[in-house]
Amino acid sequence: MMRYSRIVQKAGQPMYLASTAVFLAEVLKIVACLVVMRHQQRTWPRFTSMVRNEILNKPQETLKMLIPSGLYALQNNLLYVALSNLEAATFQVTYQMKILSTAIFSVVLLGRSLTRGKWLALVLLMIGVTMVQSQSMSNSTPAPPPPAVDQAAPVPVAAAAAADPPLAIAVQSPLIGLLAVITSCISSGFAGCYFEKILKTSETSMWVRNIQLGISGAFFSLVGMLAYDMQALRAGGLLQGYDWLTWIVVANQALGGLLVAIVVKYADNILKGFATSLSIIVSGVISFYLFNFQPTSPFVFGAIIVMVSSYLYGLDFKQAGPIKPH
Ligand code: C5P
Repeated sequence: MMRYSRIVQKAGQPMYLASTAVFLAEVLKIVACLVVMRHQQRTWPRFTSMVRNEILNKPQETLKMLIPSGLYALQNNLLYVALSNLEAATFQVTYQMKILSTAIFSVVLLGRSLTRGKWLALVLLMIGVTMVQSQSMSNSTPAPPPPAVDQAAPVPVAAAAAADPPLAIAVQSPLIGLLAVITSCISSGFAGCYFEKILKTSETSMWVRNIQLGISGAFFSLVGMLAYDMQALRAGGLLQGYDWLTWIVVANQALGGLLVAIVVKYADNILKGFATSLSIIVSGVISFYLFNFQPTSPFVFGAIIVMVSSYLYGLDFKQAGPIKPH
């Protein structure tokens, strides 16, 4: 939908600014968390005192979130650099390194220990998802697919930016592209595990944590929006080119971000990698029935490898259970 919303433009209407969609998704995430908190607290006085005590009176906790949200902003922008400088195939293959970087940071930051079987499962997952992706690559038209295609979780800035016209740049620098992809893989693994550690080692509610993350995320996306699109904003306003589809895309980004947080809280970042890989296969199966999608043999073999790796990883699940809260 994100890609469609960037390609199809109504006659006489400007294209919406991707940076505004990223910013509004952050704002929507904050609003959604506030609604859930209000529902949980049941009364307005309890809700407002929670907002005051947990968020307004604890700015240092929001500052802590500058690290993951800053890294997410960096990662999302680097993905754009990577997509601009690498062939789509190289990008898709190298981007799967984030499965391993997440596992490494789970060991280093979260103190998990992974058995040899689990490392094998993770390597198989990388191979399987790369094979599955090879079909989505060969089916895509000139512009490389946005990262949102390969992740069920949202990748706001990159995905929106990936569909922007500058992608069609003539000069490509594979070295810069590769450095960007490696850095964003490291950033994704680190930010995810950092957020997981914060969520699981304190009593603070996940909704409060998401509001704190959303505030710093909104700050970064606001700075990006003003830096890149100031002129266009002055000329056409914040909501230029918006229609119902744009709002669905924005809502989907916000919902996806919250889902990432829920997955990380109740499961973990490594399992998120399995979930997103399996979701690509589920999308393939749905597309087979709905959109006449014809799976190729790499897709089918890749799907089988992903399922086998998920099974292998799940065999000794207890050993890699979530870290205990203090
Ligand atoms: O590729 P990766 O899984 O690292 O991407 C996670 C995405 O989810 C990032 O784009 C980040 O902005 C988003 N996210 C979020 N809210 C969270 C955690 C991640 O919006 N609590």
